[in-house]
Amino acid sequence: MADSWAPDSWRDKPIRQVPVYEDIERLAEISAQLRTSPPLVFAGEARKLKRTLGDVCEGKAFLLQGGDCAESFAEFHPDNIRDTFRVLLQMAVVLTFGAASPIVKVGRLAGQFVKPRSAPTETINGVTLESYRGDMVNGMEFTEQARKPDPERLLRGYNQAAATLNLLRAFAQGGYADLHKVHQWNLSFVADSPLGERYQDLADRLDETLAFMAACGLTQETTPQIRETDFYTSHEALLLEYEEPMTRIDSTSGDWYDTSAHLLWIGDRTRQPDGAHVEFARGISNPLAFKVGPSLDPDEMLKLIDILNPGNEVGRLTVIVRMGADNIEKGLPPLIRAVEREGKRVVWVSDPMHGNTIKSSTGFKTRPVDSILSEVRGFFGIHKAEGTYAGGVHFEMTGQDVTECTGGAQAIGDDDLSNRYHTHCDPRLNAQQSLELAFLLAETLKGARIQEPVKKAAARS
Ligand code: PEP
Ligand code: CO
Repeated sequence: MADSWAPDSWRDKPIRQVPVYEDIERLAEISAQLRTSPPLVFAGEARKLKRTLGDVCEGKAFLLQGGDCAESFAEFHPDNIRDTFRVLLQMAVVLTFGAASPIVKVGRLAGQFVKPRSAPTETINGVTLESYRGDMVNGMEFTEQARKPDPERLLRGYNQAAATLNLLRAFAQGGYADLHKVHQWNLSFVADSPLGERYQDLADRLDETLAFMAACGLTQETTPQIRETDFYTSHEALLLEYEEPMTRIDSTSGDWYDTSAHLLWIGDRTRQPDGAHVEFARGISNPLAFKVGPSLDPDEMLKLIDILNPGNEVGRLTVIVRMGADNIEKGLPPLIRAVEREGKRVVWVSDPMHGNTIKSSTGFKTRPVDSILSEVRGFFGIHKAEGTYAGGVHFEMTGQDVTECTGGAQAIGDDDLSNRYHTHCDPRLNAQQSLELAFLLAETLKGARIQEPVKKAAARS
């Protein structure tokens, strides 16, 4: 590494989006407690994810990364974790079966508690308070007490992340993710909808395939991939007061890993090459990602890539593009060309959520499903035109039947948003809208993969 790095070297750099704690002694005590608390993930798992993302980089697999915009203490419930997990499983099976592609499953879960905000304060009826920054920092309620950054919330977040991850591991490895259960993953409120039926149809075909495989001797007993799955966690590495004490030296490799999640990303608002968040991320060996909005120019992106992945290692770095449906045609090609020209190895992922947030006529922050799908189509189309690989999607969703994004098969309108608008931050796709996205992706990905041999044959002739 060019300059010396330590888990706390970020403290010497300019930083954005930080809460100011009053009780710094208590913060230091909590930091000490976190430093001696068990790691949430093991370095070997992060390495495995990096290898798998290497496959994505080479066009051999596809990344599905999704979950809440912000996890919350109030919505912490095993049923919520289960429902989000099962919608992700459904999406993965639609993609694996529909597009014949291995799917890398990464949740925005078990640590996604901190949010960057467009303004540090919020004013309601002439009262100005600190903005809500996510449950690991302060409370959403609009009172002075709730909005004060509270160090105790770091521990509560850690404990909730530990319990969430424990359940996810049990689901992924303990039989819930068995492919024989695909019918049961369908949530009751989805089952009777056209998308639910489409899913059931796919599940029927999968049953036939599994029966055929069993006849050939491939069963849950002989083939662990049928009965369990790998599921990874990720969140935005925004609150460095949490990430720093979770960062440990891995005894097997001697490298530093942030053990709070398998993959950490840097948000669009904190990716300054000389800033604290980039400084922190460059020294950890986990797979990393950063978000790219319309304001990033190609040279600055190359600078970031060099800082975060100086060895040009495959699977180390994912670029999450969140331009908005209207900006992607103009914004993405120059970035892809710069990366190709310099021979940089990155995974390209589309976040079709964060560039498509609007205010509804009824006053809610929302996202039209049409814009989301349109950005995804644009992303795939551009990669096809540039001869590069569209490696995955990153999205905000929930297994609950919420009404936060407009449109989709249920045709949620501006007037319906107030019915079940529960998010703690950005509007999320509900279970049906998520499935809709998965079917669109499966078709697009299948098309892209069928094109591939044609392109190779053309290149040879
Ligand atoms: C997010 O992923 O919730 C987020 C805030 O994204 P971005 O950094 O792209 O705005
Ligand atoms: Co968000």
